[in-house]
Amino acid sequence: MSDTVSSVSAAALTPLVIGPLLLKNRFIKAATNEGMARGGVPSKQLVKFHADIAAGGAALTTVAYCAVSRDGRTFPDQITLELQTLAHLRALTDAVHEQGGAVSAQITHGGCFTFLADLSTKRPLSASGGFNKIGLMSGLYFKQQMNHSDMHRIANEFASGAKLAREAGFDAVEIHMGHGYLLSQFISPLYNKRKDEFGGSIENRMRFPVMVLKHVLDAVGADLAVICKFSVTDGVSQGNSADDGAQIARILEREGAHLLVLSAGMNAESITTMFGSSFPAENRASVTNPIVKAAMFIQQFTEKKVDFRELYLLEHSRKVRAAVKMPLAYLGGIKSAAGVDQVLAEGFDTVAMGRALIFDPSLVNQFAEGTNSVSACTSCNRCVAMMYTEGGTSCVLGQPGDPVLNKQAAAAM
Ligand SMILES: Cc1cc2nc3c(=O)[nH]c(=O)nc-3n(C[C@H](O)[C@H](O)[C@H](O)COP(=O)(O)O)c2cc1C
Ligand code: SF4
Repeated sequence: MSDTVSSVSAAALTPLVIGPLLLKNRFIKAATNEGMARGGVPSKQLVKFHADIAAGGAALTTVAYCAVSRDGRTFPDQITLELQTLAHLRALTDAVHEQGGAVSAQITHGGCFTFLADLSTKRPLSASGGFNKIGLMSGLYFKQQMNHSDMHRIANEFASGAKLAREAGFDAVEIHMGHGYLLSQFISPLYNKRKDEFGGSIENRMRFPVMVLKHVLDAVGADLAVICKFSVTDGVSQGNSADDGAQIARILEREGAHLLVLSAGMNAESITTMFGSSFPAENRASVTNPIVKAAMFIQQFTEKKVDFRELYLLEHSRKVRAAVKMPLAYLGGIKSAAGVDQVLAEGFDTVAMGRALIFDPSLVNQFAEGTNSVSACTSCNRCVAMMYTEGGTSCVLGQPGDPVLNKQAAAAM
C-alpha cells in the first residue's frame, strides 16, 4: 500500500443504512474496553473519549462491554445496563450526537469468562459445566451448565439491556457473540460440549445466541440497529474455522441481524488472532490487578509470536463476504486510506477500527480531507494494558487519559 498522502475514496464517505439507522459514512469505531467506568459508573472521561471519536469523523462509535446484568461483567469496573447508569449513558449519547455521530452500546455477558468476587451464583454460568480454566486465577474453578430457564432469563436480560440503551439515547446495540464471552461459549465447540439441542452442530450451537438476537430484535429492532460481533475463526484447532464462521454469518443473516462486525480469536486462547500482533512484556508492568498480570504472564508462553500486517483478517473475512448478502463491517488492522478502499472495493460495506482511532480519534477526518493517509499506530498493543490505569485506555505514544475526569460521574454537575 502506498505511503503517499491521498484522501480516501468517495465511496468511503457515502451513507450506509443498517436496519433503522443511517450512518453518515463507512467508518465505525470498534469497541475497545475503555477502563472509564470505575465501580461501573460511566465517567466524564468516557464521554470525552467517545465525543472525540465522533468529532473526528467516525459515523458510529461503540461503547465497549456494557454488561446486561451484574453477573455478566468480567470485572467490577464495567458498565451494567441498569437504572443507575441511565443518566450517565444519556450524558454520553448526547455528547456524541452533538458532535454529529451515532453511538452503539456493546451489550454482553461474560459467562465463565469472569473474575468477579461477588457473583450471585456459586459457579459462573456457561454453555457447559465442569472445570473452569478461566477461573484458575480468580478461584472460580468450576462453571455451571445453563439450563432452559437460565437461557430465557439471560435472553430477557439482553432485551432489557437493549431497551435501556434505547432509553439512554443509543442508536444501535452490538450483541457481543465473540472473543470467548458467554454467547461465544455457546458458538464455539471449544467450550460447548452439550449433548442437547443447544450443542453439537453449528445450528444447535447457535440456538441460544439466536434466541438472544430474536429477543433483542423484538425489543428494539424497529428503533435501533442491531449489530452482531462474532469471531469468524476462533484461532484454535478445536474451535470454529472461517468456514464455520461463514455458516454462523448465514444463520445471523437469516435471523435478521442488521450488520455483522467480523472479528476473530478468543481472549484466553488466541488473543494474537484477535489483534494480529504479539503482546509486549511491558504490558504486565502497567497492570496492578494480580489476576490480569498472571493471565498476561501465562499468555506469553502459550501464544506464538505474530508480526502485524495490515488487514490481517481479510482472508478469513472474505469467506463470510462470499457467504452472505447482508451488510458486513470489516475489522482487523485497518490503518490506511488504501486499506479502507481495498476492503470496500472487495464488497465489505463498512470498516471498524480499534487501535488506529485510539492512536488518533481524528483519523477519519484526515482520511476524508487527504491530510493523512496512514495511521502511525505501531500495533504494539500497549494500549490494552492502559485500560487498567487511572486515566483509562489511551495510546502510550500520546497523552494519557485524564485521571480526574475519569473519577467524575458522566452526569455529575
Ligand atoms: C484496548 C483495547 C480494548 C479492547 N476491548 C474490546 C472490547 O471490550 N470488546 C470487543 O469486542 N473488542 C475489544 N477489543 C478488540 C477490538 O474491538 C478489535 O477487535 C481489535 O483491536 C482489532 O482491530 P484493530 O486492528 O482495528 O485495532 C479491544 C481492543 C483494544 C486495543
Ligand atoms: S499503544 Fe498506541 S501505537 Fe500501540 S497499538 Fe495502541 S494505539 Fe497503536
